[in-house]
Amino acid sequence: MLCCACSGPRSAATLQINPYEYTIQKKIIGSNGAVTSAHPLASETGVSIMKQGGNAIDAAIATQLALAVVYPGAGNIGGGGFTVMRLSNGTNITIDYREKAPARAHRDMYLDKQGNAQTALSQNGHLAAGVPGTVAGLFGCMKYAKLPFTKLIQPAIDLAENGFVITESEAHDLNRTRDAFIKYNTVTPVFVKAGGWKAGDTLVQKDLANTLKRIRDKGMAGFYEGETARLIVEEMKRANGIINYDDLKNYQAKEREPVVFDYKSYKIITMPLPSSGGVLLPQMMQMIEDQPVKAYGFLSARAVQLMTEIERRAYADRAKFLGDLDFYKVPVKKLTSKAYAVERMKDYNDQTAGSSETTGAGLIPESEETTHFSVYDKSGNAVSVTTTLNGGYGSRTVVGGAGFLLNNEMDDFSIKPGVPNMYGAVGADANAIAPGKRMLSSMTPTIVLKDNKPFLVVGTPGGTTITTSVFQTLINILEFDMSTEDAVNKPKFHHQWLPDEIFVEAAFPQPVREQLRQMGYKVTQRGAIGRTEVIRIDANGTIEAVADKRGDDSAAGY
Ligand code: GLY
Repeated sequence: MLCCACSGPRSAATLQINPYEYTIQKKIIGSNGAVTSAHPLASETGVSIMKQGGNAIDAAIATQLALAVVYPGAGNIGGGGFTVMRLSNGTNITIDYREKAPARAHRDMYLDKQGNAQTALSQNGHLAAGVPGTVAGLFGCMKYAKLPFTKLIQPAIDLAENGFVITESEAHDLNRTRDAFIKYNTVTPVFVKAGGWKAGDTLVQKDLANTLKRIRDKGMAGFYEGETARLIVEEMKRANGIINYDDLKNYQAKEREPVVFDYKSYKIITMPLPSSGGVLLPQMMQMIEDQPVKAYGFLSARAVQLMTEIERRAYADRAKFLGDLDFYKVPVKKLTSKAYAVERMKDYNDQTAGSSETTGAGLIPESEETTHFSVYDKSGNAVSVTTTLNGGYGSRTVVGGAGFLLNNEMDDFSIKPGVPNMYGAVGADANAIAPGKRMLSSMTPTIVLKDNKPFLVVGTPGGTTITTSVFQTLINILEFDMSTEDAVNKPKFHHQWLPDEIFVEAAFPQPVREQLRQMGYKVTQRGAIGRTEVIRIDANGTIEAVADKRGDDSAAGY
């Protein structure tokens, strides 16, 4: 029997991995290690790996592979992501396994003859897919792991082969996506079930299990070459896809120089470009650092107005300047300098709403199915991973015979200057499509150090809301002294320059909305913002892992 959303911390010793009977834990306290992710089975898989002698990196690899099975909407091997690590020896590492544009991609590939943007093509089906990076990213992490890869991937193989019981929200999401699965596939995937899915049904993924076995047996070549590559290329040929054998064989994950900056007495480590978070988070933290936000108080109109104006300035820069540094010269040093942050806030007026240009902005939809997980082990290794297919179930195209979903990450490029992507974000030349280029991302996996030791491991899904959610979660803890649960679960808000409005969650207080409207802001209620997963490590070594209340997210630890 599946028991959902048990409240309150529970002794980790009672947790077991049983794919047919599991519980959602929103908070766990431990002293040895913890994982918090979008799915209980994935979190428990990571912890079981630590119990078998693995470190946080082993656990992160096993968790990501398990998510690819139990959380098909965003956990993936057909997408990409970013990993930020703080190793117990004090080294900071980031691994970029963002998808890349295929060699046959070009700047105008989503424009029709009249030059109109065809977002249906950048968001759905075969042509929406970038070259997947996740499997290369996992192998990029292996040099910091202790256990053999064969051991780390086995739980995912078992979950795919023998099946697991799905939750109510997974059943709902699969049913809601049924028509798209039928439309965008050449071979009907296992995600389509006659009569529809319900909570407690078992999802078995034999094709995916076989793909995972090829990766287990042949390493990266088990995905980027041989049978899996053949299945991907054959799938492309059956529709309008353009990923070819060379795109797959040439894909490489990259270790990049981590972004490290100070916020008061804390050190913050996050992901550089192509994560826009690596520019926006330092910008926003430095813009707020000298402001009396704590005195204003959490969710006071003054605090929200201040943070909104900070978000507006950062996202305006995102649209103009940010893209893949391997292809475009981005003035990162200037954008992230304290002097620039001070300059940007010079025209800040704490009484009235600022203004953004209004052309080309669209609405923000509420399907933002990236996923984040945080991992920590008692020897001091911290791993923060955000990974994605982009939208929920990505392109909705499953590679026939290989059983995994392809991303629709091409939509994160600016397919035409000023045309909003599925998150309403606009871009320019810096993020235009080019063969082999990585599309700009908002994913912001982050680690905060206190006294030079890991204090917070944090991140979230949520499209363009990712960086503002990480920003707000950090301010909630570092300035408003909130408990971890409150920092994660209290209402969030979001402003991204265009559209020029503040998006708020349903629980955002009505009186504050009114005060903001009186200042001149457009305030729009929307669905949940993010699913933030935080691990907090206290000076005495206590590990607290909190999973966001907004989904099936679950913490595990011991
Ligand atoms: N696809 C969401 C992101 O990378 O920002």
